[in-house]
Amino acid sequence: VREAHKAETEKPKDGGGDKTAAAETGPSDLVVWGLIGVVVIAFIVILVLNKVIATLERLLLKNKGLVLEEEEVEEKPAVDRLATLKKLAKNKKLVFFVVLCFVIGSGSWTWVTMWNTHMNQGYQPVQPIKYSHELHAGVMKIDCQYCHSGAYKSKNASIPSLNVCMNCHKVVKTESPEIHKIYDALGYDVDKGTYDSTKAKPIQWVRIHNLPDFAYFNHSQHVTVGGIKCQQCHGPIETMPEVFQYSPLTMKWCIQCHKRTQVNGKDNAYYDSILAAHNKFKKGEKVTAAVLGGLECAKCHY
Ligand code: HEC
Ligand code: HEC
Ligand code: HEC
Ligand code: HEC
Ligand code: HEC
Repeated sequence: VREAHKAETEKPKDGGGDKTAAAETGPSDLVVWGLIGVVVIAFIVILVLNKVIATLERLLLKNKGLVLEEEEVEEKPAVDRLATLKKLAKNKKLVFFVVLCFVIGSGSWTWVTMWNTHMNQGYQPVQPIKYSHELHAGVMKIDCQYCHSGAYKSKNASIPSLNVCMNCHKVVKTESPEIHKIYDALGYDVDKGTYDSTKAKPIQWVRIHNLPDFAYFNHSQHVTVGGIKCQQCHGPIETMPEVFQYSPLTMKWCIQCHKRTQVNGKDNAYYDSILAAHNKFKKGEKVTAAVLGGLECAKCHY
């Protein structure tokens, strides 16, 4: 059992850091079915062995010339099912085995459940405007940075304001009811081409990815310093007509990637500055907190 589990959990390692998300959803169905299979096979083996032992014992007695006549008489009521169960219950090895299976089973269930707390993988709420990443980021190839520039330079990726949409939709698809939702939200009058802020009522996009407040996650550290592609964590966003949560976003998911991903320190401004500070220490020069990034907004602000 342990071997099967080990093989399963270690397998994704060969895939390197780039295929992490899909594989890290905890022990898979394969492990569960493997466990059940092993239990069933072990059970059959025990039953067969019991039969063999009984036969051997009888043979032994026979050889000693001690064939018991009553045995045949006694064997008939044993056809009754309860008697068989009672007989099985007397078998200490079997009882121990069943208890062991139960402990392993409930143990793995608890383990999987604990790892998957706060899991919202696959969450796909309906958004107030039918905005499609498949169309904008996929077909039209608009760079993620155009709308989520925050992901490259700060903690939060941020959702673009509707003014970004207006760069195009002031003239594109002006007749579409979906686009009119943008106009209404900004208090924009298509015919006059004027904005009336008193009529504006902001669009409430439904947040999809959401870590609990006690977990600190910084986009720029991963995207800009770590050089990790958005798709590695968010999946093929450019093929999604509606965004859904691709990765589990569990602590296990964070930890496993941290264990497997090699940090790129070459031509990396972040590590160049750390090395520079290191050298200053060595030479006994003055090093301030500012040199170590203590002036970056995201170091202090959530
Ligand atoms: C034209 C602007 C635009 C572009 C380009 C764009 N997005 Fe978005 N993105 C949005 C808007 C608007 C939302 C909020 C509505 C939604 O969830 O669909 C959003 C939502 C998201 C979300 C979900 C946010 C949440 O609530 O958790 C992710 C992840 C995301 N985008 C990633 C990407 C990636 C990766 C790319 C590049 C491949 C990209 N986006 C390109 C506008 C854009
Ligand atoms: C770079 C230009 C550009 C930007 C920026 C842009 N769009 Fe679009 N959008 C388009 C084009 C082009 C189409 C497709 C027109 C077509 O189907 O012929 C489109 C289509 C749409 C549609 C489908 C309309 C329909 O009825 O078929 C929606 C909804 C939409 N965009 C919402 C948004 C939102 C919300 C934003 C801002 C987060 C945004 N767009 C930003 C160019 C843009
Ligand atoms: C290392 C994994 C990882 C990478 C790489 C990553 N994201 Fe995220 N993203 C997350 C997590 C985790 C959250 C939830 C953050 C939270 O709730 O505090 C998130 C949230 C978001 C959101 C919701 C708004 C927000 O800021 O919380 C958007 C939009 C988004 N990401 C876009 C992007 C884009 C665009 C890229 C690429 C430039 C990207 N992400 C790269 C893990 C990642
Ligand atoms: C796809 C792989 C990947 C995933 C998933 C991932 N990380 Fe990271 N993370 C990295 C890498 C690579 C670095 C090192 C970046 C660098 O060079 O500083 C890093 C660094 C960090 C750091 C140290 C940053 C600093 O300020 O020194 C924190 C904190 C962190 N990650 C939190 C998280 C959290 C929280 C999650 C889960 C929500 C997460 N990470 C998911 C790859 C990942
Ligand atoms: C060394 C930590 C640190 C750094 C770096 C830092 N801040 Fe702050 N910032 C704070 C603290 C602490 C407060 C709260 C001060 C108070 O309440 O009087 C604050 C307050 C603010 C406020 C006022 C918020 C409010 O609601 O009153 C803004 C805006 C702000 N910071 C923006 C920034 C920006 C932008 C940067 C990056 C250029 C930055 N901060 C860098 C620690 C920091």
